[in-house]
Amino acid sequence: MLSIKSLSTGYGGARVLRGLDFALGAGECAIVVGPNGAGKTTLLRAVMQLVRTQGEIVFDGAALRGLAPEEIARAGIALAPQDGGFFPQMSVEDNLRVAAPRAQARARAYAFFPALAERRSQLAALLSGGERRMLVIARALALAPRLLLLDEASAGLAPRLAHDLFARIADWRAQDGFALLAVEQGPGLAALAGGRVYLMANGRLAPLAQATDDGALARLYFGV
Ligand SMILES: Nc1ncnc2c1ncn2[C@@H]1O[C@H](COP(=O)(O)OP(=O)(O)OP(=O)(O)O)[C@@H](O)[C@H]1O
Ligand SMILES: [Mg+2]
Repeated sequence: MLSIKSLSTGYGGARVLRGLDFALGAGECAIVVGPNGAGKTTLLRAVMQLVRTQGEIVFDGAALRGLAPEEIARAGIALAPQDGGFFPQMSVEDNLRVAAPRAQARARAYAFFPALAERRSQLAALLSGGERRMLVIARALALAPRLLLLDEASAGLAPRLAHDLFARIADWRAQDGFALLAVEQGPGLAALAGGRVYLMANGRLAPLAQATDDGALARLYFGV
């Protein structure tokens, strides 16, 4: 479904991704872990063509390079970004309405995230960090994507909240079968999502087992 070959990108002269290869099948799940600044967000932005890229990105047989982000969304890819992704001065309900004009789709979002239903008429700016995460994810999933790009959903959340958030996403995935590419700073939540885990280092991805073998993970996280 998603196939990435020799993907390179960066900002100005600074290369962030350097010949990255990756593949994900329909309905599959992969988690990319890596420290601050490794390029995780850049990878998701590259798939959405929010940065200029070199190399090949193919989704269901169609090349994404050069498409506008809204064309990529229409092709079935939704991004739940790390920052933003919602309108602070609009209510929860109106935020969802933008993504999901049909009441039925919003009702589904509220069923997966009951905490949002309780806050439906509240300004999004007043939500807690965890509720904001739910809103951003619910807005992305209300588009009924076939691939969800999830950027550090657990950032800043207490472990129990993060655990619950991933469980909600898993429930939704069990019903809709969308593929998931999630990035996280640490591997803690990867097991929950039940997917393959990759380490991002030096602008590329390595399967985590392999990375552990050659000590890359230990060096990154424990400085040994
Ligand atoms: N708009 C930008 N302009 C210039 N440099 C940028 C920009 N966005 C990111 N970078 C740089 O690109 C590199 C990768 O950033 P990126 O945001 O992809 O990392 P990340 O793995 O998502 O980090 P974090 O875990 O902190 O979110 C970093 O060195 C960052 O400083
Ligand atoms: Mg990031």
